[in-house]
Amino acid sequence: MSISIAEVNESAKSALLAISSATDLAALKLVKIEHLGDKSGLSKASQALGKIAAEEKAAFGKVVGAAKAEVSAAYEARVKVLETERDARVLIEERVDVSLPASNIPKGGLHPLTILTNEISDLFIGLGYRVAEGPELEAEWLNFDALNIPADHPARTMQDTFFIEPLDSKLVLRTHTSPVQIRTMLENQPPIYVICPGRTYRADELDATHTPVFSQVEGLVIDRGITMADLKGTLDYFAQSIFGPDVITRLRPSFFPFTEPSAEVDFFFNGRWIEWGGCGMVNPKVLEVCGIDTSEFSGFAFGMGLERTLMVRHGITDMHDIVEGDIRFTRSFGLGIK
Ligand code: FA5
Ligand code: MG
Repeated sequence: MSISIAEVNESAKSALLAISSATDLAALKLVKIEHLGDKSGLSKASQALGKIAAEEKAAFGKVVGAAKAEVSAAYEARVKVLETERDARVLIEERVDVSLPASNIPKGGLHPLTILTNEISDLFIGLGYRVAEGPELEAEWLNFDALNIPADHPARTMQDTFFIEPLDSKLVLRTHTSPVQIRTMLENQPPIYVICPGRTYRADELDATHTPVFSQVEGLVIDRGITMADLKGTLDYFAQSIFGPDVITRLRPSFFPFTEPSAEVDFFFNGRWIEWGGCGMVNPKVLEVCGIDTSEFSGFAFGMGLERTLMVRHGITDMHDIVEGDIRFTRSFGLGIK
């Protein structure tokens, strides 16, 4: 195998050209394999040195050595240049423009009614109550009859009811949360301390103070020696927790078939009395239907409208704001997530 000085110079020239033409580090790596690797012209020239006549060896060796040194130096220099370019490019590509407007996707939050429901539930859980729930599509018997509102009783018309077809299904959209009282007493032995929040329905027109789909919260206590004083104390605590520590309540005589005596509870807020809901001592007839021994146990119950509670507390003057779900309204109550 023989190789000429011209060929060595030619290999060096094409290696230098390839190095300077490589535009990125990946290309330069391939150039290195081709022009500086074992099979490159310059490596072959080194290998050929051994077979060269002794008198030519020194001169040829010098040429090969110089060529390899020049190509290696050019390679190292090119690596540095391309690395610098890459680093500069990465800096630009990965740059974060902190002045760009943030993408503002709201996380979502609870509806103010849900926030209020949770607040009331927490309040009563703190008093040792349990939260009880029942279905919105309710048996007529539980919504009315068991609550001492028989079919032919005028009290049935106190609440404008959505009946479910076929009518002999004997199902209604519950008109109040009071059927949850019955469900609770049928399923549990006293002492009973429950709070029952939930959605209720009446064929009322949507206006500033009414909505056909609204919410109530029911309280029920059955224990030994429960009196109206316990009811009043509980309502005071409830009202003060919701409306402020200085709020007072009053009871006005009223009528509900399932309580005896019955009362409307009002609270004094911003200089006036506001009607909050109904209440009373659970009618012994209702206790008997549920198999509770009236010689041993007595109890109280109350039921409030949650939309009205929210309206009074936050000065909301139109029910539409609560039911329409405009997030400009709901947002002002915060996310409600603890
Ligand atoms: C009742 O529903 C009784 N079950 C309450 C009760 C429970 C009495 C336990 C005794 C013992 P009433 O029909 O008054 O009572 O309704 C109670 C509250 O529900 C009202 O004070 C009002 O705040 C709310 N409410 C009634 N109808 C509507 C409506 N269409 N829109 C918004 N709130 C309503
Ligand atoms: Mg009423």
